[in-house]
Amino acid sequence: MIGLEDALDLDDPDADDFLDGVQGGIVKGHGRDFTAHVLVRLGPDAAAARRWLADLAAERVTSAAAARRATWSWRGSDGPGEPFAMLLLTASGYRGLGVPEELLPVPGGPFADPRDAEYFRFGLKEQAGRPRTFADPPVEQWEPAYRERIDAMVLLADDDEQRLCDALDAVLASAAGVVDVLVTERGRVLRKKFPRGELVIEHFGFQDGVSQPLVVRQDAEREVRERGNAHWDPAAALSLALVREPGGGYGSFMVFRKLEQDVAAFHRALGDLATATGLPLDAVGAMAVGRFADGTPAVPTTTPDPGADPNDFHYDQDPAGSRCPFHAHIRKTNPRGDVPRVIGAPAEFERSGRVLRRGITYGERPDLVEGGVPDRPATGVGLLFMCFQANLDQFAIQQEGADSADFVSAGVGVDAVIGQGAAPPPQTWPSDGAVAFTMANFVRMLGGEYFFAPSTTFLHGLADTDTDTDTDDASDRGAAS
Ligand code: HEM
Repeated sequence: MIGLEDALDLDDPDADDFLDGVQGGIVKGHGRDFTAHVLVRLGPDAAAARRWLADLAAERVTSAAAARRATWSWRGSDGPGEPFAMLLLTASGYRGLGVPEELLPVPGGPFADPRDAEYFRFGLKEQAGRPRTFADPPVEQWEPAYRERIDAMVLLADDDEQRLCDALDAVLASAAGVVDVLVTERGRVLRKKFPRGELVIEHFGFQDGVSQPLVVRQDAEREVRERGNAHWDPAAALSLALVREPGGGYGSFMVFRKLEQDVAAFHRALGDLATATGLPLDAVGAMAVGRFADGTPAVPTTTPDPGADPNDFHYDQDPAGSRCPFHAHIRKTNPRGDVPRVIGAPAEFERSGRVLRRGITYGERPDLVEGGVPDRPATGVGLLFMCFQANLDQFAIQQEGADSADFVSAGVGVDAVIGQGAAPPPQTWPSDGAVAFTMANFVRMLGGEYFFAPSTTFLHGLADTDTDTDTDDASDRGAAS
């Protein structure tokens, strides 16, 4: 029997059964280069919507066990991996399918507060009154599709772009008359060559996807072997990401946010900051992000494997923020020791606020191709930010800290990469230095929603329920959850 209180041991005889019940993409990223995110609103015929979702689950959804098998067979071949898909529901989606309120998923983890259930139940549009606040633009300024009620997301991913387009066409055709498609977002991985190799980057040009909590024991052991763990332990229990559904399966809460990046403004600001501090551009970039563009951390570290992505550092090595300021993006979002040292809260509390990031970049970059346009984009590109967690408060605590000028202590300023605010005060570069300069508002939230990735058992069970979705009958509820 697999418990959530430890990382998953793949050698456990029950591991495969466990992974068969969980959707892929949660305990491990799917790793495909192209994605389509179909956001839908369910139609009035709940039974038809249940059948549609159950058919999609049967035909396309990749369980974590299937994702693992696909990775094995892909490793031995030169072709693209198998297609990947998952299904996610919002609270209104559950309600639209006839799932009673008391059977909606509830947050888990050792620090979960009963009020944390509100994030999911109210949704991202109704932030006012939730346990934490952040500085998102008002809903009226979101892209039109996101102002609508969003009930579900079909996430398709593939390394073969044409095959993804074909799958998307088929999904859209099957949706006709059952659900309204509000918008389809398309993600594509962005890569750049650095002296140390070709790396996945985000649009500001920095390596992304480096530091992740690892909920599979063997993944954590590999990171420790290759990157070291003298300062930082990347391991995490499954309970960081998974919760037990009321019906018995395991699922995970997901945050989805379409974040537009003003790449031109970000680099203009870095140039001005370099002038103000008298430091090279790459050094001020590293102070804003917490890592240099090629992923090298601002806090010096080494790796046992010289080719590995460095991740073995802790801010006890830089308590004054002289190398990695307190407002650096990765220090705001994963404070590695600042919370116990500065605030006095337990280290376990800080570590329980980590999230499993699974985002992907969107938008074209003609300025990055040879012979392309000269100017960096100000609009039209960004990150389809996604993260999984057992409690949406894990995301909320990070976003709140990023938007607050007073986290981790009064006056440190907002996160220099994702911080938003009407008039954010200047940060000090570095934190124990003398240069005051404001870096903020380069990332604009265009819309998003809170989802839950149900177990495969829940999704397949949608096929078994009859059309009487309003019933209070316990057997009906059992089949749906
Ligand atoms: C367009 C928006 C964003 C950009 C450009 C961005 C960029 C980056 C980059 C370059 C890194 C360093 C590489 C790595 O460790 O993977 C990083 C790490 C990270 N980001 Fe973001 N990010 C964005 C949004 C967010 C949001 C919204 C959150 C959460 C609220 C977040 C949380 C994190 C976390 C937790 C890390 C890892 C920190 C660590 O463990 O050291 N990011 N991000």
